[in-house]
Amino acid sequence: MKKRIFSGIQPSGNLHLGNYLGAIKNWVKLQDEYESIFCVVDMHAITVPQDPAELRRRTIEVAKVYLASGIDPKKSTLFIQSQISEHAELCWILNTIAKIPELEKMTQFKDKTQKNGKESSAVGLFDYPVLMAADIILYDTELVPVGKDQKQHVELTRTLAERFNKKFGETFVIPKAYTTETSENIMGLDDPSKKMSKSAKSEYNYIALSDDEETVRRKIKKAVTDSGSEIVYSDEKPALKNLINIYSLLSEISPKEIEKKYVSKGYSNFKNDLADVVINFLTPLQQKIADLTDEKVLQILEAGAKKVRPIAKKKLEEVKKKIGFII
Ligand code: TYM
Repeated sequence: MKKRIFSGIQPSGNLHLGNYLGAIKNWVKLQDEYESIFCVVDMHAITVPQDPAELRRRTIEVAKVYLASGIDPKKSTLFIQSQISEHAELCWILNTIAKIPELEKMTQFKDKTQKNGKESSAVGLFDYPVLMAADIILYDTELVPVGKDQKQHVELTRTLAERFNKKFGETFVIPKAYTTETSENIMGLDDPSKKMSKSAKSEYNYIALSDDEETVRRKIKKAVTDSGSEIVYSDEKPALKNLINIYSLLSEISPKEIEKKYVSKGYSNFKNDLADVVINFLTPLQQKIADLTDEKVLQILEAGAKKVRPIAKKKLEEVKKKIGFII
């Protein structure tokens, strides 16, 4: 029996290179080795305000990105989170064993509430990690391939699964986060101290997977760099390090080799080539996305929901029995 992996992306903004390099790139490799379930987590997306028509469009768009990146529906199961109501039900049950300070500690919650203020933050945003835990343990997931920024949420998932098992008897598999060097945080192009983010205020923070050639060149040209002119891969030059990481992950050339290639060549040479590397990656991806029709993608998502529904139903019934619900 193959081990199961589960992961998801929110249809909450423009997918960017961080999402691809941090998550999707790994999924494509893992789907050969693991039984793979990939979700479009629309219920997570609505923890911040979304325009309904945009949400619908983006939900399909995220699934298109999965497929165009090489997620093969013959090997992996793709579905939309909100189509399986067991996620919300299990979330509610887990809410009764999750503790308020555990959620208050979550970095993502702290960052997001700092940005928008607690007064305008929804309770759903606070509860986000519990829904994520439900997503994962509903399917007896063993590995969760995510970017480094999500490791804390997977740790909480483990805590909640262990707590439930202890209280009500063995029910859930305890999952582990799966990260590789490609899951390192890809940082903002405008500020290397913050991760590249869909919800960034400035479009100069990220390179969207949908950016055209001109936009990519403009954004890379504007990307902040550190003082000096040497191309060196070092923690002392976080902006440059981030750009080298992107170059390296998209071209499979190691940072050391990149350093060598650009000895005494300066930033502008390096940036021009980086733009080429990014464009060479994005152009075929965008073509594949354009070739996918909404109908085809919705069919794949529906087939996926049909496949996971019985798994979710069975696990939730087990949970309900254990906690004393009459089913
Ligand atoms: P989301 O949509 O914010 O991010 C999707 C994936 O992209 C990774 N990621 C990054 N990786 C590297 N550098 C970055 N700058 C960067 N930004 C984002 C994230 O780590 C993530 O893997 N909470 C999840 C969605 C989710 C989920 C789940 C994941 C909901 N339920 C269950 C796994 C299992 C999230 O971060 O979505």
